[in-house]
Amino acid sequence: MKLVYFSVTGQTRRFVGKTSLPHVEILPDDDLEMSEPFLLITPSYAEESPTVSKSIDVMDPVFDFMAYNENYKLCRGIIGTGNRNFAGIYIFTAKELSAKYQIPLLYDFEFNGTPADVEAVEKLAIQLDQGAKVTFKNPL
Ligand SMILES: Cc1cc2nc3c(=O)[nH]c(=O)nc-3n(C[C@H](O)[C@H](O)[C@H](O)COP(=O)(O)O)c2cc1C
Repeated sequence: MKLVYFSVTGQTRRFVGKTSLPHVEILPDDDLEMSEPFLLITPSYAEESPTVSKSIDVMDPVFDFMAYNENYKLCRGIIGTGNRNFAGIYIFTAKELSAKYQIPLLYDFEFNGTPADVEAVEKLAIQLDQGAKVTFKNPL
């Protein structure tokens, strides 16, 4: 399964380069349209406040990409990358996208990932290619 990723400072790009999976990068103002299922890997850039936390503008290209021509409909899962020092808003952008589009958050890791993270994401991609279905369990 193809990985679609976004990267501001290069950590996520480095991670993706360590995998053996096909991939494409989301670039600002690039109308990337998907025609096959994919896994989204996104870093998180957010700000926290006592009332509402939200992703900051630097993440707009990912939100734009997901909305563009309903790309989100082909997204089989989201992988969040971030920094645990952000505590309560660790992988916030990934969670925000997961909630917005009801797409499962399948995995998370910090920075450019460890060898175990690379292995886990490759395994996930293969499982999805083989027909594994991952859906939200509706609590209602
Ligand atoms: C201004 C700023 C805000 C950030 N906000 C978050 C955040 O809300 N949650 C989180 O888990 N990591 C946050 N991070 C950490 C990045 O998501 C992390 O370093 C990630 O690996 C960066 O990926 P990239 O280099 O591909 O852009 C932030 C980093 C910066 C510089």
